Amino acid sequence: MAHLEKLLNERLAYAFEVVAGGPADPALRRSAHAHFQADGALPLAQRLGRAPRDIAADVLRNADLADLVAAIEISGPGFINLTVSDATLSRLVADVAADPRFGVPVAAHPDVVPIDYSAPNVAKEMHVGHLRSTVIGDAAARLLSWLGHEVIRANHLGDWGTPFGMLIEHMLDVGETEAAHELSVGDLSGFYQAARVKFDADPGFAERSRQRVVALQGGDEQTLALWRLLGAESEKYFLAVYDKLDVTLTATDFYGESFYNDRLGALVDELDRLGLLRESGGAQCVFPTGFTGRDGEPLPVIVRKRDGGYGYGATDLATIRYRTQELKATRLLYVVGSPQRQHLEMVYQTAREAGWLVEPARATHVGFGSVLGSDGKMLRTRAGGTIKLIDLLDEAVARADAVIREKNPDLDPQTRAQVAQAVGIGAIKYSDLSVDRVKDYVFDWDRMLAFEGNTAPYLQYAHARIRSIFTRGNIEPPQGRQTVLVAEPAERALALELLAFAPVIDTVAETLEFHRLAGYLHTLASTFTTFYEHCPVLRSEGEVRQSRLALCDLTARTLAQGLDLLGISAPARM
Ligand code: ARG
Repeated sequence: MAHLEKLLNERLAYAFEVVAGGPADPALRRSAHAHFQADGALPLAQRLGRAPRDIAADVLRNADLADLVAAIEISGPGFINLTVSDATLSRLVADVAADPRFGVPVAAHPDVVPIDYSAPNVAKEMHVGHLRSTVIGDAAARLLSWLGHEVIRANHLGDWGTPFGMLIEHMLDVGETEAAHELSVGDLSGFYQAARVKFDADPGFAERSRQRVVALQGGDEQTLALWRLLGAESEKYFLAVYDKLDVTLTATDFYGESFYNDRLGALVDELDRLGLLRESGGAQCVFPTGFTGRDGEPLPVIVRKRDGGYGYGATDLATIRYRTQELKATRLLYVVGSPQRQHLEMVYQTAREAGWLVEPARATHVGFGSVLGSDGKMLRTRAGGTIKLIDLLDEAVARADAVIREKNPDLDPQTRAQVAQAVGIGAIKYSDLSVDRVKDYVFDWDRMLAFEGNTAPYLQYAHARIRSIFTRGNIEPPQGRQTVLVAEPAERALALELLAFAPVIDTVAETLEFHRLAGYLHTLASTFTTFYEHCPVLRSEGEVRQSRLALCDLTARTLAQGLDLLGISAPARM
């Protein structure tokens, strides 16, 4: 089923092509004046040497729109204004309401999409950057799998490298049982700091740590066992965070850096064979085209360090090669903070030059900004330390519980606990997903938990209120195909908004700009509020009542579906 915007776009594109003598973008968009506006004539004027209004008129002569549109008007410099007929709106909304997929088709050509996200570091507290990566990556995983793509959740855990020498030695100092306990309950920063302090202060410890790294890289069995213990205990803690955060990451999604270890030798050989490897300052490097430093000298991806060890860059090259060649990935997503943009772009470019990333396969950095405190600086604890994520999530739920208690004192304790969970976690996720991800955002409890504004609680409450229309009226939600009658302005506005879900999903699947889906849901909820103020539902009769109930039900389902794609649950009651 093609959605309205797509239908209009296709038909206009055809007419534009006839008039322009070649493909031309109709530049169709939603509009405040009419329902839609197509601005494509103006940019053609110079090319065709004709007046834009003339072009627009010609386009309309060639466009077959009669079955969709009630009024067409050309305004200003050839803008085409389209008003959709009520009959069309009624028919299309009925189609969407009868379709469990809301008019969103399953992908005709599914991609294999490894999503690189979350990726905390073993024996180190996850910071809010990892929280962002986890929340955005989870939304991407949910959306793309709902669209029928083959999603591979790739948690690129930082579980390898030189810090492990000092971490293992520290574990031996405190005793394995004690260390395991500290890590599994999430005292990761304490553990890491303690190791670091000793490493800096005690030369004997530092030396033991360095030898430990050599043993680890040499595959010493006893060392590996200790290293595995560190990883396993940290993973327990990360899984507890994921569970609380209600994301779809599981224990089987950890593909840590160490996973690529035994591929690194072959990687270096291949780069060498391809003539891409160059020595620089004792290290083996690749210099991908197009990356230069401030003074114009080419920038390296270090593949093998002077001491023979492999670094972060080498692992990322092995990872991309594994994803395209072994997993047959066609769309690779990296949900990683903006500071790592250049590193990733250099990895992609190297992979292109090595022939590991060839079209149609593509790699995209899904970057994001920082989470700031109210002081505009990086979010930290009051003492200036890393925030323990599990505490942050618990606080969200506790604060939500207090808000719900005040809003609805009659809710039974069990329901309230569930609602507090949904609202608290939802608020955290939504405050992250509702802003343009490349921007920084300020973490603000009061704002994210408010029942007004572009927030999770506002949307969850809007959803629950619609559901309560049915429970209060003791009405079963409509089943099967419904007749929808669009006649009032507020019905028309709601119908248009309901039909706009599919195009938003199209856009977000491509751009992974979840704030567009969030903004859509917010507009839908407020459009519904206007509808509900102007169009009585339970007090109307016959076909009108049925139709309005169908609009209510579809709005609630669309809100729940949209929230679910963001990883946020929508309780029926709150
Ligand atoms: N572990 C890294 C960090 O904490 C993030 C890894 C991102 N993914 C990647 N393929 N490099 O910064």
